[in-house]
Amino acid sequence: MIIRTTIRTTIRTGTATTDPALRGPGAGQPSGPKDSVGMSVELVQNQGEKMRILFVCLGNICRSPSAEGVLRQLADRAGLDVTIDSAGTSDWHIGAPPDRRAIRAAKLRGYDLAALRGRQFTAEDFDRFDLILAMDRKNLRAIEALRPAGNNASAKLFLDLIAQTGSDVPDPYYDDSFERMLDLIEAASAALVTQIAHKKERHPDPDGAP
Ligand code: 4NP
Repeated sequence: MIIRTTIRTTIRTGTATTDPALRGPGAGQPSGPKDSVGMSVELVQNQGEKMRILFVCLGNICRSPSAEGVLRQLADRAGLDVTIDSAGTSDWHIGAPPDRRAIRAAKLRGYDLAALRGRQFTAEDFDRFDLILAMDRKNLRAIEALRPAGNNASAKLFLDLIAQTGSDVPDPYYDDSFERMLDLIEAASAALVTQIAHKKERHPDPDGAP
């Protein structure tokens, strides 16, 4: 049985975070609560099965492996059993570890990306994942170009999860903006964990699985 849940989250924000992109759970140090509206993402999942999430960027060595590492840790910490993977729309870095700058920046925030290896996004990923999160609009178009007829897996922009509809995670490969990339990824991942946990509360697993 398929469960479809659309959740509109209300995110508590404060005035200490000046960048609207970072208004989300876990972002900044709010000095006083204020409500802002987060984006809703349809979470589709086979009942009784783990939710499967795939992050996709261009090379699969900077943004998507960073998101994989961050979400895995935040989901673990929240006690959520979720399958998480990442891929690139290009074939440029198949089998390669993440960019050493991505590994270093993540490590400084407590995320370990060293064991991850690049792979290319394929049409089969539409069947293997419930939610495909693209790092930018160009990669979302490349993903959609491979969608098999009749497949209805959810493919969205990752930053739709925070108040950034239509926005891209800037590619740090060219300008070294790994801190900015991690700030955005942490904020959107925290929002996603909140949505998954909320969905679990509304549709608990009948077998009591996490
Ligand atoms: P990513 O960044 O899509 O975030 O992994 C890039 C990695 C490699 C290249 C471009 C973007 N490249 O040109 O090799």
